[in-house]
Amino acid sequence: MINVAVLGYGTVGSGVVEVIEKNKDMVNKKSAQELEVKYILDLRDFPGDPYENKVIHDFNTILQDDSVTIICETMGGVGAAYQFTKQALELGKSVCTSNKELVAKHGPELLQIAREHNCNYLFEASVGGGIPIIRPLNYSLTAEKIEAVNGILNGTTNYILSKMEKEGADFDTVLKEAQDKGYAERNPEADVEGHDACRKIAILSSLMFGKNVDSEKVPTEGITKITAADFEYANAAEYTIKLLGRSRAIDDDTAEVMVAPFMLPKDHPLAMVYGVFNAVFVTGNMLGDSMYYGRGAGKLPTASAVVSDVIDCARHQGKVIMCFWDKEEVKLVDTRESVR
Ligand code: HSE
Repeated sequence: MINVAVLGYGTVGSGVVEVIEKNKDMVNKKSAQELEVKYILDLRDFPGDPYENKVIHDFNTILQDDSVTIICETMGGVGAAYQFTKQALELGKSVCTSNKELVAKHGPELLQIAREHNCNYLFEASVGGGIPIIRPLNYSLTAEKIEAVNGILNGTTNYILSKMEKEGADFDTVLKEAQDKGYAERNPEADVEGHDACRKIAILSSLMFGKNVDSEKVPTEGITKITAADFEYANAAEYTIKLLGRSRAIDDDTAEVMVAPFMLPKDHPLAMVYGVFNAVFVTGNMLGDSMYYGRGAGKLPTASAVVSDVIDCARHQGKVIMCFWDKEEVKLVDTRESVR
């Protein structure tokens, strides 16, 4: 039996509990043992919730309980989430997270701590919601030299741009809809200004190079300046507008990474990605192009990715799943001036 703790009982955290419960038999079978959510850490109480008796408020209870060996960090942010993750890994407890901000900021450090303590820090849910993209880059496309990654990495902005394109919808109304559906960040500025996509392309670029891409150095522009007139102009030329995270290898240590709205020909595979869907278009030097597509945000898709990591941790208890992402920095260049 493996006991699991969930940190943060919000959209994704409650989804994690639901996925483990709804798919219990299959999850247990694939984990080769029984998984039980023992604790849910949150500042709030949840009277009437079926799992209210599992809710606790003190992280030390989890740290001091040796029977808890896997922790799902779905709290978000880089304050308490960073401290809790570090403390857990130092005690050899594996951590599975959807927290892209923390992975982008402290990924290499937390991965190293996990390696030193024979446990794992896994983050499939941090990019692309439910789409498998971390595993493909880290464990599947291992024979490839990745030349470029281009992705629609933020469900909220893709939802907004899709509605603007198809229905001529008003920006604020559509943003409110995305918030109501649980796609948007607590502070939606992170979505619409491109910061969320920036963290995600930094994570993917880091895996692409096996070295760190500092998200704070990635030129980033969001979608707040896009108007109905831009769509009319794009449409007339058989183009659409998508917010893309782009990473292009210049050589083994150098990349051009950016987030910005791009005009895409309507027959490009990424142009056909609508609504909350995300897609990551990967170009390898042997395989050529491949694309990973699916629900990029939302409770159950994101929770499904977290639980896939939990199962991986359960299968590999006491063993380190290798993740090629070191602290050494990738050199970033910006060639945009030269093509203006
Ligand atoms: N706010 C994010 C998005 C959630 O809209 O894609 C998933 O990371």
